[in-house]
Amino acid sequence: MYQDKVEQIKTDISHAQANTPEELEAYRMKFISKKSVVGELFAEMRLIPNEQKKAYGQAVNEVKQLAETKFQELIEKVNSQKNGTKSMDIDLTLPATHVAVGGIHPLTSTRQRIIEIFERIGFNLSEGPEIEDDWHNFTALNFPENHPAREMQDTFFIEKNPDIALRTHTSSVQVRVMENQAPPIRTLSPGRVFRNEAISARAHCIFHQVEGLYVDENVSFADLKQTLYHFAKEMFGKNTKVRFRPSYFPFTEPSAEIDISCQLCGGKGCNICKGSGWVEIGGSGMVDPNVLENCNIDSEKYTGFAFGMGIERIAMLKYQINDLRLFTENDIRFLKQFRSFL
Ligand code: DAH
Repeated sequence: MYQDKVEQIKTDISHAQANTPEELEAYRMKFISKKSVVGELFAEMRLIPNEQKKAYGQAVNEVKQLAETKFQELIEKVNSQKNGTKSMDIDLTLPATHVAVGGIHPLTSTRQRIIEIFERIGFNLSEGPEIEDDWHNFTALNFPENHPAREMQDTFFIEKNPDIALRTHTSSVQVRVMENQAPPIRTLSPGRVFRNEAISARAHCIFHQVEGLYVDENVSFADLKQTLYHFAKEMFGKNTKVRFRPSYFPFTEPSAEIDISCQLCGGKGCNICKGSGWVEIGGSGMVDPNVLENCNIDSEKYTGFAFGMGIERIAMLKYQINDLRLFTENDIRFLKQFRSFL
């Protein structure tokens, strides 16, 4: 009866031992290889009557399984004897292997940092579409009919009459927020903007801005100044100075450009600040009452301030990058330098 033979082999397998590679090989020859006792059992399949073949096959497969499991155990045993204990395999004095990690793009980390600073003083986040209509990009923002910014050289128009264009600034999001939300409003809108400009070290046709808007009762220019002082010190360090230069934007009155003391020379004058000690980071002002009214906000009751800054410009100042094109060229040598800015 084949059952006895199978049982005998099972017992032999369970009693088998191997302490050296040679004994391991002997085990393999005896129980695993084609010519082993298990191999023989398979060969004898043809002698088994048909009606017993199924049961026989099952029994033989079990033996094979047993032989292989035991073989793995013996291999591990022999290996661990060879090496002493397994953990001694590791040389703890070797230098660690280098793990290649990616980095956050400097524009992303700059945007994140800006958001973080304003979120802490109560600004929420808002977004608007990159494809805008004339109302949100220009008209509601008090742009006169024939203002040069509406002209073809600045704006990428997608459709004319009614005009649909790629937004030229994130100020369009101001309008969308004010149309949809009653004051108090404190919001920050980062995003991509588009202008029909030749690409150079200082200009690009696609770049990023972040817009800030605060509308409530009794918001004053002093609030604007303090908010931006706070931002500049958080972003660039507590010794950073800020100055406001009178300027003009259709959607703010009064308007001011925001300068910070040059990060490179600390205000002494260098080629980055063109000897002046100051660099511009954006525009700002008190929201023009016409804009509030265009968005159905009572300009007798509410006042507001707004500001807009270029994210590339801020990243360039923070990391002393002198060419805007580096941000979009995907040169790994440039990007690698920001690996630790997580
Ligand atoms: N939208 C202006 C630009 O793209 C920047 C700006 C200026 C935004 C003054 C403002 C502001 O909100 O008050 O140049």
